Amino acid sequence: MAKPQTKILFVCLGNICRSPAAQGVMQSIIDARGLSDRFVLDSAGLYGGHAGELPDKRMRIHAFQRGYRLDHRSRPVRVSDFENYDLIIGMDDSNISRLRALAPTLEAERKIMRMTDFCRQHPGVSYVPDPYYEGSEGFELVLDLLEDACASLVDQLSQ
Ligand code: 4NP
Repeated sequence: MAKPQTKILFVCLGNICRSPAAQGVMQSIIDARGLSDRFVLDSAGLYGGHAGELPDKRMRIHAFQRGYRLDHRSRPVRVSDFENYDLIIGMDDSNISRLRALAPTLEAERKIMRMTDFCRQHPGVSYVPDPYYEGSEGFELVLDLLEDACASLVDQLSQ
């Protein structure tokens, strides 16, 4: 019998930097491990002002340099996401508290996780910093944290 799928929604503010990068990094890891049929991935933002846009060009360039092609189109978080996804993973304190406020039930609230809680190589880091007003180092740090967290997420969920 086919193993059950895990549906994961990555969430940040604009859905043009951190969360589409998380989706792309995670997709790349599960593809490389032959686990594509075990996961459904998407990403969304708490601010809908970039809806329909591709990821920020700087994020796409930094991701591409590490072998990730980001082609997600930004969309806002919907209340129905809490029903349709098993895990809803936010990037920072603000994402987490806003997701908690949107969760329609206690069961839905329990699906909310923090991306950095999965990091193994960055033990002191408690959030993925918003790179939007930062330089190249900000985008590189985002990718470092996401690669760390996604590898351990896949390890945990594929056991
Ligand atoms: P993200 O970055 O939340 O990682 O997608 C941002 C993108 C856009 C804005 C803020 C953060 N903005 O204010 O438009």
